[in-house]
Amino acid sequence: MRHFRSLLVTGGAGFIGSNFIRYLFKQADFTGKVINADKLTYAGNLENLAEIDKEFGAKGRQRYFFHPVDICDFGAVEEIFLKYQVDAIVHFAAESHVDRSIHGPTDFIRTNIVGTFTLLEAARKYWEGKQGVLFHHISTDEVYGSLGDTGYFYEETPYDPRSPYSASKASADHLVNAYFHTYKLPVTVSNCSNNYGPYQFPEKLIPLMILNAVEGKALPVYGDGMNVRDWLYVEDHCSAIYSIIRAGRIGETYNIGGENEQPNITIVNKICETLEELYPVKENTFIWEAGNKSDGYKSLITYVGDRPGHDRRYAINCDKIKKELGWKPSVSFVDGLKETVRWYLNNREWIENVRSGDYKKWIEKNYRKR
Ligand code: NAD
Ligand code: DAU
Repeated sequence: MRHFRSLLVTGGAGFIGSNFIRYLFKQADFTGKVINADKLTYAGNLENLAEIDKEFGAKGRQRYFFHPVDICDFGAVEEIFLKYQVDAIVHFAAESHVDRSIHGPTDFIRTNIVGTFTLLEAARKYWEGKQGVLFHHISTDEVYGSLGDTGYFYEETPYDPRSPYSASKASADHLVNAYFHTYKLPVTVSNCSNNYGPYQFPEKLIPLMILNAVEGKALPVYGDGMNVRDWLYVEDHCSAIYSIIRAGRIGETYNIGGENEQPNITIVNKICETLEELYPVKENTFIWEAGNKSDGYKSLITYVGDRPGHDRRYAINCDKIKKELGWKPSVSFVDGLKETVRWYLNNREWIENVRSGDYKKWIEKNYRKR
């Protein structure tokens, strides 16, 4: 079992990164430091880690340190390696939203490809000849392309990315694997399916639908609503990553999935049903006081134009991580969704804060006319 003393988490202020840092500090066998390097784009929010900073930050137990760093800046990355003697990297930082990559791919190429390359170069320089170090790269199932009605993505499935986002992630994966083969840099890679849970930026399907429904706005379902995704509760993704960094085989890729395939329209219907249970439409002041006396959240569902190049179906086979590392998803979709809906209902201030960034401007400028 590997143990790290000084773990650099890139993109730790984002959705999965912040959940991962919170998860790490709950693990009794993790006693090291975490250095969170994040550029704080629209998707990064330090509020996600306010409690961690209070308990473990510079004024607390001195095990958590934040640095506002762009991963494309070699000098800034180098300073972190030197200052903290980093012995592991868990690399989340990325531009992560497919729709944004369609409207403007530049930042995706820069952060996801050049940023990963920059981190690899820093690791190669500082870890030469060192034992017990690890570069773990977080990737996506989207690199494998799109499935028909049957079949699964395996670790050996040939790459076939089809959006600027997935193409940039695929490039990064290839670079990470190339550094293992060429320079013997100790790496592991994980390719995960769709995550959901607290702190997800409300541009992604589940939080967007929850918030639109609460506010009595249309629920925009792309195309025929029958595109299929495999949903995994974010904490299960975090536990999978933790298993890989401690015990995954060096140079290997692990697929992570929820074994929970569902068409988008089913997800949206379930969100409406969960909301009705936790916040019945008749008690919803947004809808009721606005005079929009909807007869139920489902009446807000609106089919809209499709996402260009919309991948039809993703489905992960995660037998390898189950067999080798004993990991499995532990949160049922019913429980995870309830927890997620409850979290968004109880955290209006967080929502207002993240929305006051560039999100509104982006939506106004880029949302497709439907
Ligand atoms: P996110 O968009 O919520 O967070 C990304 C974080 O990276 C933000 O905090 C942002 O400020 C930071 N960042 C962006 N550019 C940066 C740069 N140049 N330098 C430093 N920091 C930068 O993303 P997420 O959903 O948490 O995804 C995290 C990782 O997991 C990504 O690599 C993504 O491809 C991968 N992934 C996501 C999912 C999912 O369903 N969300 C599934 C599989 C894999
Ligand atoms: O599969 C893993 C990937 O999952 C990650 O690598 C990405 O970072 C993450 O954003 C996610 O990508 P998707 O494109 O699958 O997620 P998104 O939430 O944007 O959309 C999920 C599905 O819902 C997809 O089929 C498009 C559809 N959709 C999405 C939005 C935002 C809608 O029908 N309406 C919407 O408004």
